[in-house]
Amino acid sequence: MAAVESGWTVVGLDNSGSRVEKLNCGHSPVEDISNETLANALNSGSYRASSNFEDISNADVVTICVPTPLDEKKLPDLSALRAATNSAAPFLKNGALLVSESTSYPGTLRNEVIPIVEKNRRTGTKQLFFATAPERVNPGDEVWNQKNTPRLVSGIDKESHDKAIDFYKSICDAVVSVETPEIAEAAKLLENTFRLVNIGLINEFTKLCGPAGIDVNKVVTAASSKPYGFMPFRPGVGVGGHCIPVDPLYLTWWAKQNNLAAPMVELAEKTNSEMHKYVANRALELVPCNKKKSRILLLGVAYKAGVSDVRETPVSHLREHLTHLGHTVEWIDSLVPIWEETKPTNDLQGFDVAILAVNQPELPIVELQEMGTPILDCTNSYPGQSGIRTL
Ligand SMILES: NC(=O)c1ccc[n+]([C@@H]2O[C@H](COP(=O)([O-])OP(=O)(O)OC[C@H]3O[C@@H](n4cnc5c(N)ncnc54)[C@H](O)[C@@H]3O)[C@@H](O)[C@H]2O)c1
Repeated sequence: MAAVESGWTVVGLDNSGSRVEKLNCGHSPVEDISNETLANALNSGSYRASSNFEDISNADVVTICVPTPLDEKKLPDLSALRAATNSAAPFLKNGALLVSESTSYPGTLRNEVIPIVEKNRRTGTKQLFFATAPERVNPGDEVWNQKNTPRLVSGIDKESHDKAIDFYKSICDAVVSVETPEIAEAAKLLENTFRLVNIGLINEFTKLCGPAGIDVNKVVTAASSKPYGFMPFRPGVGVGGHCIPVDPLYLTWWAKQNNLAAPMVELAEKTNSEMHKYVANRALELVPCNKKKSRILLLGVAYKAGVSDVRETPVSHLREHLTHLGHTVEWIDSLVPIWEETKPTNDLQGFDVAILAVNQPELPIVELQEMGTPILDCTNSYPGQSGIRTL
């Protein structure tokens, strides 16, 4: 849509037929793009979705932004990136620019994408151009979007670089020219690893402060008064979504490929992925009379506030852990209608404790307070309120 708004004619290629159909009917699957914005683009003829890779044969610029998740062994899974590149390659026209926007380890453009294109390109295409421009999107962010978020861009050679810079300048307010694709790819991993490690640090700090009766959120607020050298991170149930829990493991994998290690990243990942156990213990401390089998209400289950996305949500581990301990767990989330094939509860009666895991809109905090249900607030949204403990 950023490209559409900048005057480009755009085809959204997707191998999911149902997604293409929905898009062409004006149903946006992306929370930050309204149906109205999509409909305007469709009606003006500047956008349409398609499953037909032949559409690439008219394109001056092709951006690949398919998922780059982890496999079941928590290793990088580039199968979608390889498949999309493979599908696109035979249709690239002479002089086309192919940009990899998917997050991946350094060397992906040079050693994965380009060789696939070289093997499958149309005979007769004299020159193709290649660049990387890692996607920087923060779903649910009302301030930072595709247009106003500075974009890292780097081409495989000078001509590719210049073409890519020109393209992103046409759709973004600020383009940051980076010397090599590997620097851009590594920078993307650094951005999210930085967050993983700092969240890990603050989660560890929380486990030290809690037993000493110190409210870690008050500590973070106090430390934040320092005008230099400190950046606040808050504790929580863990990390979720498709970036922070995933991208740092691309980094640790890449390190191992080079016979190196990233122990600090591994430890932060372990600290965050075990945080739900600490949260469970803190919540169970609030259950009156040490009941062995409690009824527990989870408030907010998406991976972060303001979104309906439950991919990699750490609240899954919390539910699994509490259920494994023998407790009954129900949940509410105004933005999530179904979670792991379960529906939210509509009855607030009889819970021994509620855990505010993600501060979604319209959660029944006041009702629970009035019923006297103790609440553990993992989000620091209700500091100092009666009946509510912070993490
Ligand atoms: N979503 C974010 O918040 C975000 C932020 C920064 C970076 N990223 C990165 O951007 C990339 C895309 O992530 P996403 O969350 O937008 O992905 P997504 O899960 O929303 O998938 C995007 C689309 O790719 C399609 N697809 C999958 N394989 C395909 C193929 N072979 N050919 C054509 N289409 C195919 C899917 O059907 C889907 O509609 C990832 O590398 C991710 O790490 C995402």
